[in-house]
Amino acid sequence: MSNQANTSSDQMHSVLQESRKFPPPTDFASRAHIKSPEQYEQMHRRSVEDPEGFWGEAAKDLHWFKPWDSVLEWNMPDAKWFVGGKTNLCYNCLDRQVNAGLGDKTAIVWESEAVDADGKPNVIRLTYADLLKKVSKFANVLKQLGVKKGDVVTIYMPMIPELAIAMLACARIGAPHSIIFGGFSAAAIRDRVEDGKSKIILTADGGWRRGKAVPLKQNADDGMDLTSLVETCVVVQHAQNDITMKPGRDQWWHELMQGASDDCPAEELDAEDLAFILYTSGSTGKPKGIMHTTGGYMVYTYLTAKHTFDLHPEDPDELFWCTADIGWITGHSYIIYGILPNRVPTLMYEGGPNFPAEDRFWDIIERHKVTKFYTAPTAIRAFMKWGDEHVEKHDLSSLKLLGTVGEPINPEAWMWYHEKIGGSKCPIVDTWWQTETGGHMLTPKPGATTTVPGSCTTPALGIDAAAVNSEGEEVETNTGGILVIRKPWPAMLRGIYGDRDRYIDTYWTKVPGLYTAGDGARKDEDGNFWIMGRIDDVIIVAGHNLGTMEVESALVSHASVAEAAVVGFPHEIKGTGVAAFVILRTDMPTGDEAEVLKKELAAHVGKELGPIAKPDQIKLTEALPKTRSGKIMRRLLRDIAAGVEITSDITTLEDKGIVEKLQRG
Ligand code: WTA
Repeated sequence: MSNQANTSSDQMHSVLQESRKFPPPTDFASRAHIKSPEQYEQMHRRSVEDPEGFWGEAAKDLHWFKPWDSVLEWNMPDAKWFVGGKTNLCYNCLDRQVNAGLGDKTAIVWESEAVDADGKPNVIRLTYADLLKKVSKFANVLKQLGVKKGDVVTIYMPMIPELAIAMLACARIGAPHSIIFGGFSAAAIRDRVEDGKSKIILTADGGWRRGKAVPLKQNADDGMDLTSLVETCVVVQHAQNDITMKPGRDQWWHELMQGASDDCPAEELDAEDLAFILYTSGSTGKPKGIMHTTGGYMVYTYLTAKHTFDLHPEDPDELFWCTADIGWITGHSYIIYGILPNRVPTLMYEGGPNFPAEDRFWDIIERHKVTKFYTAPTAIRAFMKWGDEHVEKHDLSSLKLLGTVGEPINPEAWMWYHEKIGGSKCPIVDTWWQTETGGHMLTPKPGATTTVPGSCTTPALGIDAAAVNSEGEEVETNTGGILVIRKPWPAMLRGIYGDRDRYIDTYWTKVPGLYTAGDGARKDEDGNFWIMGRIDDVIIVAGHNLGTMEVESALVSHASVAEAAVVGFPHEIKGTGVAAFVILRTDMPTGDEAEVLKKELAAHVGKELGPIAKPDQIKLTEALPKTRSGKIMRRLLRDIAAGVEITSDITTLEDKGIVEKLQRG
């Protein structure tokens, strides 16, 4: 197993080493929540030895309508946290602050790439009180549309304030949301709507991306045409692009809001009531609807945000910016749910990082004086490529901490981030976690942890992580193993929506009794973890999870494709690119005809799954390399796609001539 985790060429970046170590800057450490390695050790030990005591105390920072009877009930693989407790995620994001006299404090700073009439950046600031009013109004709108506690509300929106309002309104009335990333297309919308049996979609006419309006309403229409489930569609007017409104089904957000009351008390929800479903790619074709519940997710994202980003609400300058889209778990947890209860303003940006120019992010940091900045390695690699001059134009001295998430960060990118963006003075938190984990799992504690470029370092509080063999025994130091979590934590997924067997099969059987993340990892002599990439058929393209089987299914759904195999290969910016090997039903085309078909296939995948999934390379082939037992030799395909020497053992290959043909073609 260790080899499997080790040799994946998808993860080129994780193997480069940088031996320098970076202790926390002294002034940062002196005012941090966790100030020293000893303090972390002591807190961590307590959190895993006495989880009930530790989490019971943490939860008391937040508001409960009724306290819990017991902190944890654990029947592997089912956890219940804060059993019997009644609370509300939205109440803890908004009312708690307003009730504490902080109604006038900024909750969200929103900026769009689109400029206003005088060419000035379009910025909206919403206080906790503003947001509470708007959220309460929209919660009443949802009720008036017939949405009840437990009904799944599909949200397909750009990064606009209404997205935050919509999700918080769902949380307020106990209607789980299912947010679909705006880069997904009609088929993905249909699949998620049908899986969640959702009768309502919230969308917008369009969203801005690099100067163009992405036609979200049109995509939603195409998705709704593929299913008969959706009865209501609420549309925010935002980009003012042309759309069609279907009478009886489609309604304008602003019209519904006009008459709505702004009084809507938060529902007293059970700690284990479903908070949301979020779909993530799996190793088989169908995405998994990951379920998160109210109380545990709330407490865990609150505490990890506080400790990982060392948030200080008493500091009037504190401004946190996570660049993820809310359509991903990173946006759910660290733009909205984990940040608002910490009483620190959160910045939300709609648009591209290079619009109107490649310095847009640095311009935002300078203008708003962002203090904590959280982004993905793929973005950092793009910034490096665009050139230092875009960074050097701006004063980034407001920054105090930098974070990354989504894939291993290669040490070169880490060093560039540290020096060019952080001015060599900001701790970097490389956070490892997953849609399934709800919040950070392995991450530096910025005031306590000595960081090493490329390592996500040590477990978050309450997390018992290990690299093990398939029997669950810890492997030796610096040996690759399967990354597992040995004890339940509050924000762990509660299952896959509608698929109990798949939940058990995916997470609890590879190493019986322990949560397996699907990643390989090793632990070094200092106790730092190094993620070695996926051990299943999931690849991470530009920080986004993609099941290779999903892309294969999309390809075979094209009339001219008989069979397809998809693998990842090292890509300078995206980390991993998508390579597809395709067998046609028709005769093999040549020259221009072949190029036209490849373009068509790439566009087809884009249409089915969204632009992220479009193959970067397509090879048309008459056969695929298979073992005598008929298994596609994926490792061999990875070498071919990467253009490197074949290192796999090809003795079991049925037709050896095929390798040469694939390398040529
Ligand atoms: C990968 C994103 C290395 C990993 C929050 C994981 C990482 C998958 C890191 C989950 C990191 C995420 N270092 N790998 N800091 N963060 N990953 O569900 O393979 O979109 O299993 O959640 O991303 O991706 P997901």
